[in-house]
Amino acid sequence: MQWRRGLAIGVLSLAFLAGCETTGDKMAMKDKSLYDRLGGKPAITAVVDDFVARVGTDRRINRFFANTDLPPFKAKLVDQICEASGGPCKYTGKDMKAAHAGMGVSEADFNALVEDLVATLDKFKVPEKEKGELLGALGPMKKDIVTK
Ligand code: HEM
Repeated sequence: MQWRRGLAIGVLSLAFLAGCETTGDKMAMKDKSLYDRLGGKPAITAVVDDFVARVGTDRRINRFFANTDLPPFKAKLVDQICEASGGPCKYTGKDMKAAHAGMGVSEADFNALVEDLVATLDKFKVPEKEKGELLGALGPMKKDIVTK
């Protein structure tokens, strides 16, 4: 009978360990910053690349970016999203009011840009929760960007 008891304890220990593992993972996910859940800087860089390319072909708004030097602009966007999502970066660009002053960005322009961002996030299969959190972090900037 001794071996049976040993086996039962073994099975129970395994089940316990597996339980810890699952709970541990869930805890870790819950405590992770949006930055980590998005996949860190490589994922944010990929998102910005795709998003900026999309904006560049979006005839509703690409005129705004006709003279933009893309590499430094993309680097600023990456830093901004990285910082806004709780990552280790520091955004050193202009504040949103100064950056968009005098451009005459309308609400329709703003919505078009958000639509392009959503298309990118969907392409990368960013889950609804993370997508909502990211858009929620950018939404409040609208009042400083839309001036028309
Ligand atoms: C939440 C939405 C937006 C965010 C987070 C955002 C972010 C930024 C950032 C970080 C910069 C760089 C600032 C700097 O150079 O220091 C910038 C510049 C700019 N943004 Fe936005 N922006 C948003 C919406 C828009 C919209 C709706 C438009 C027009 C449709 C727009 C057009 C521009 C243009 C033309 C520049 C200047 C790019 C250049 O350097 O040539 N932005 N934006």
